[in-house]
Amino acid sequence: MANNRLKNGLVSGFSKKSKQEKIEWIAQTCFTNSKQAKSILKSYWNTDDKLQRLHDEFIENAVTNFYLPMAVAPNFVINGQTLVLPMVTEESSVVAASANAAKFWSTRGGFYSKIIGTEKTGQVHFLFTGSHQSLALFFTDVKPKLLEQTDSITKNMRKRGGGIVDIELINSSEKLNDYYQLHVRFETADAMGANFINSCLEQIAKTLKDQAASYSKFSEDEKQLDVVMSILSNYVPGSRVKAWVSCPITDLGDDGEILTKKFIQAVNIAHHNHYRAVTHNKGIMNGIDALATATGNDFRAIEAGIHAYAAADGKYRGLSKAGVKDNKFWFSLEVPLAVGTVGGLTKLHPMVKWSHDMLQNPNAEGLMQIMAVSGLAQNFAALRSLVTTGIQKGHMKMHLLNILNQMSATDTEKQAMVEHFRTNVVSFNTVKQALSAWRKK
Ligand code: MEV
Repeated sequence: MANNRLKNGLVSGFSKKSKQEKIEWIAQTCFTNSKQAKSILKSYWNTDDKLQRLHDEFIENAVTNFYLPMAVAPNFVINGQTLVLPMVTEESSVVAASANAAKFWSTRGGFYSKIIGTEKTGQVHFLFTGSHQSLALFFTDVKPKLLEQTDSITKNMRKRGGGIVDIELINSSEKLNDYYQLHVRFETADAMGANFINSCLEQIAKTLKDQAASYSKFSEDEKQLDVVMSILSNYVPGSRVKAWVSCPITDLGDDGEILTKKFIQAVNIAHHNHYRAVTHNKGIMNGIDALATATGNDFRAIEAGIHAYAAADGKYRGLSKAGVKDNKFWFSLEVPLAVGTVGGLTKLHPMVKWSHDMLQNPNAEGLMQIMAVSGLAQNFAALRSLVTTGIQKGHMKMHLLNILNQMSATDTEKQAMVEHFRTNVVSFNTVKQALSAWRKK
């Protein structure tokens, strides 16, 4: 652990302090140069007070903003429509990779994408000490009531075509003593639906408990049905999307045959080897997360769901597939996604709204399709580099400016270094040497 120099580091009632008081406390408690610490925080405040307050109110104890670059990747042709994708990421080569893949496929038929399903699930986890038969009977009797009592919560969602699809009783008592679940399936229209699902589940859990307590066919013990928790699942295999590309092998260039062969081998390796699969899928997530962040979607939920899906058959595998059919190369990706184009930050965060506008305001299904394409494009760009030049050449070229900024290079120096490294290999040391040689000139 780092040297603990926090004097009086524990604090109570912190969230109740004003923003100014919080900053003062942090600066005094955590920094030796408190003046500098405060001034760094303040330098990232927005000059528009209203906009700053909006951001402060997104989360508790907000003290400043944390910048990540937002970029755009043009030339995405998806199901015949041309789009520019908004991407928020800190990784130098991600946007360049997207833009390259998009341009490449724009002249080879573009990307295709289709929705496989949009159903989400949530669970009420509970303990029941009686027999499964008596619980099953109770469930059949109270199921209409469980649904009816959510009416006021589901009313608006039903108007938008969503709602509760079904509730199922699952007996897991052989795996864990007395453990049962209500497995609830939902459609959430254009919302990601987390709040909607959780509100429904908490109501269902309450009705379940109340009904059990007064159910005349239950013994006194059985009436003590014990709800442990009610929460949505971020595992959403029922809400799935597929994206793909395909073109004649000859359209892949002079080395089309070799590229195809190696590319398919790389995909197969990720299918069989989980060390490689994790990195393969990380590349896919580079594309999905950057778009998820730009569109105000919860990338942690998306990550968790997709990685679980990658291990759905008991072994962690690469998510994409590739092959050849009738002399045509094809490459596809199928992922579970629960995303929203309404609710959450979509209308609140000005840049999120801007991103949706730039994407021509897709509905949730549209955004799922664009996100899957973004993941496939990243994966294509990564694999094409990996099986040909290797990724470091492109990656370090993009990283050059980061290294130069670390060395406090001026604009003129940056220009000279970018020119120099057009034909030289980039590494921290080569940049250091070239810059110091240039400075001595
Ligand atoms: C780097 O962020 C992502 C890659 O490692 C993905 C891959 O190896 O497929 C390039």
